[in-house]
Amino acid sequence: ALGTYEHYMLKEIEEQPAVMRNILAHYVNEDDEVVVDDEIVEAFSKADRVYIIACGTSWNAGLVGKTIIETLAGIPTEVHLASEFGYNTPLLSEKPFFIYLSQSGETADSRQVLVKTNKLGYPALTVTNVAGSTLSREANYTMLLHAGPEIAVASTKAYTAQIAVLSILASVTGKNKGIEVAQNFDVKQELSLVANNMDSLLTDENKFPSLVHNLLAETRNAFYIGRGTDYSVSLEASLKLKEISYIQCEGFASGELKHGTIALIEEGTPVIALITADHTNLQTRSNIQEVKSRGAKTCIISMEDVAQEGDDVVLPHVHPLYTALVSVLPTQLIAYYATLERGLDVDKPRNLAKSVTVE
Ligand code: F6R
Repeated sequence: ALGTYEHYMLKEIEEQPAVMRNILAHYVNEDDEVVVDDEIVEAFSKADRVYIIACGTSWNAGLVGKTIIETLAGIPTEVHLASEFGYNTPLLSEKPFFIYLSQSGETADSRQVLVKTNKLGYPALTVTNVAGSTLSREANYTMLLHAGPEIAVASTKAYTAQIAVLSILASVTGKNKGIEVAQNFDVKQELSLVANNMDSLLTDENKFPSLVHNLLAETRNAFYIGRGTDYSVSLEASLKLKEISYIQCEGFASGELKHGTIALIEEGTPVIALITADHTNLQTRSNIQEVKSRGAKTCIISMEDVAQEGDDVVLPHVHPLYTALVSVLPTQLIAYYATLERGLDVDKPRNLAKSVTVE
């Protein structure tokens, strides 16, 4: 139910701290240990390569998951669009492990890949919000998102839930394998910190309508830029803005702009930069200068560790593996308020369905 909210999307954005806590509650046992089914961890540990298969926002979450899995579990990971993988299958490793990421668990593009990998006998884990969904029933294993029903067509809390659940799998597996980074990574502590910091970000929500007005009113296009995980989040941020506000938006690796796309920057083009990592802070800031000097209207979303005076949105500090969980929130709010300002239907954008059951 909507309760006091005008739109499901805003309600679901605001539910994210609770979703993080709920995920912890479901994956922590009575002895206060983070746990994943032994069978899943065992099969996952045997893999020489992980293949994440997904579409849309779930694919974007997979990109963030890749870094987390490689760092904590030490398994090389590839992220594939389901609609591409099924018909243009890459050369596979000897012991592949497939992860199907899907909020609904019903996406036809992902299912056709699952049918194929099942035939080949490869282990498959579905990470989904819907127990008993098709992808869950047809895979060997399931991990649930525990995000509660997602009603708005634009996915928000499923994105952060997918990243959190993948991190739990990666961390338990990495600890099991004796990987040092995983042993030093306290999921409970770091995810709780994320939840608290999501809360504090959301209390600042009332600054977004004017920020969005100054930046995006009347524009037909926009860019999000970032490096590393910030680039992955840029892709999700731009998908969100496109699908509900109909502003044409591209997420771009900030160092790559100068190799062509910078030609699109003109007087007043909005460019939003995400900066959460110290090792790329200065490089991205220099890319912002490049677009600014060509007339771009810029907005900087940075993490407090690397923030500079004048940055527009400052994110509270979280573990470097979890920056996406907080940096995506302002971008969800930007999409929401840009859509409201244009008087469009936030929860039901044109041409889109919540679950896509055709290929
Ligand atoms: C974007 C969005 C879609 C879905 C995609 C996959 O906000 O909702 O891009 O993420 O259709 O859906 P699931 O995750 O249900 O497989």
